[in-house]
Amino acid sequence: ISEVKGGAEEGLGRVGQRLSITGWVRTLRSQSSVTFIEINDGSCLSNLQCVMNHEAEGYDQVEAGSVLTGASVYVRGTIVASQGSKQKVELKVDKIILVGKCDSSYPIQKKRVSREFLRTKAHLRPRTNTFGAVARVRNTLAYATHKFFQESGFVWVASPIITASDCEGAGEQFCVTTLIPSSHETIDSPIDAIPKTKGGLVDWSQDFFGKPAFLTVSGQLNGETYATALSDIYTFGPTFRAENSNTSRHLAEFWMIEPEIAFADLDDDMACATAYLQYVVKYVLDNCKEDMEFFDTWIEKGIIHRLSDVVEKDFLQLSYTDAIELLLKANKKFEFPVKWGLDLQSEHERYITEEAFGGRPVIIRDYPKEIKAFYMRENDDGKTVAAMDMLVPRIGELIGGSQREERLEVLEARLDELKLDKESYWWYLDLRRYGSVPHAGFGLGFERLVQFATGIDNIRDVIPFPRSPGSADF
Ligand code: 4AD
Ligand code: MG
Repeated sequence: ISEVKGGAEEGLGRVGQRLSITGWVRTLRSQSSVTFIEINDGSCLSNLQCVMNHEAEGYDQVEAGSVLTGASVYVRGTIVASQGSKQKVELKVDKIILVGKCDSSYPIQKKRVSREFLRTKAHLRPRTNTFGAVARVRNTLAYATHKFFQESGFVWVASPIITASDCEGAGEQFCVTTLIPSSHETIDSPIDAIPKTKGGLVDWSQDFFGKPAFLTVSGQLNGETYATALSDIYTFGPTFRAENSNTSRHLAEFWMIEPEIAFADLDDDMACATAYLQYVVKYVLDNCKEDMEFFDTWIEKGIIHRLSDVVEKDFLQLSYTDAIELLLKANKKFEFPVKWGLDLQSEHERYITEEAFGGRPVIIRDYPKEIKAFYMRENDDGKTVAAMDMLVPRIGELIGGSQREERLEVLEARLDELKLDKESYWWYLDLRRYGSVPHAGFGLGFERLVQFATGIDNIRDVIPFPRSPGSADF
């Protein structure tokens, strides 16, 4: 359908062509001797209007009332100019086959159903306009991501999903445990495979990996190993956080893009993050016009204009210290305290991007080392680290990145300070022993990017099957 409708003059160039299509019935409207069926095949937002009368082969099924909203059909016919005002062309049908009937209990027949309701129908919601458009924009953003990094000479690296290390040190990991069954044992259910405890302690020697293993929170540490060999790399894959935060910006399973650049500092990192975001946003504006117009009309008025600004204007930069000054001077009551040394809360981030800087992305850099991860490079002031967060309106933190500590002694001292086990970082420390280089990178939460690009306010609606506290259905 996208090929038909997207061509010259919205399909007029195809008038007279024979065509067969397959798809799902969106609506069906009968007038005395003609029936109009709107069919959608997911290739674009538009439906193709199909017009038929009793001369069409298979019309008896339509007359008998067997073709209902939600049914799958095959239709064949000729493209003709449409009399209607809503579309330039339509299909004059000479044959219809009902491929799969749709039961009258089909839950998404009504034109507008709430997104909360659709979350309980995650298996059917991609058939709605909104979720179809989100899926296509998400796909285009993923494609544009690979295109940007590939064209810039980055090598895509697969980071492991199961890992022993906690990159962010926040203790938000899901544990993976599987008891190895002895040869004569059979396991009835995965639950039976959880290691038996000895006085409350897990006997890890019995476990599949022989020690605690977790789902990764970030591919960064593994990414660094490849950056210090191939220079510029990126990862793009699922990451997991057992954060018990039920917000519209947090998922337990989300996708992250993590570039890592060797021979680079924080300025190079911020420049890369800015160029990347501008590239993918422009790519979506150029290549998803129909879906973006839909979001502009139905989801967030003015989103196209807002995103065009992101592509065209420079991003603002300020230090964490200046951001605190700004918040202290703000004529506003915040729920959480503002004080040098405390992390910024989302209300603070929103104030900065939405109110102080009028809806533009802002990069905040040089955070106090106490509130950031162990691997960030210490600045000369001894108090801050070379970290940066990119904040965007509505969402807050879209990107978190830093220059990494490449000096062996400084990194070891930091691990000691934080009482982290140096032994378990032996391979990470090796990178500082064998040809260490200044390097930097960042992580971008892909779902937050999809939210940013579509205006969808809840993160559960931009990933096909959201996982959050208390919900792992479908
Ligand atoms: O700021 P974070 O925790 O940074 C890291 O993980 C670094 N290792 C990245 C790096 O330097 N390579 O996470 C990075 C981004 C955040 O800015 C946010 O967009 C997203 O990941 N993110 C989440 N998205 C959805 N749900 C969650 N629970 C998220 N936690 C982080
Ligand atoms: Mg962060």
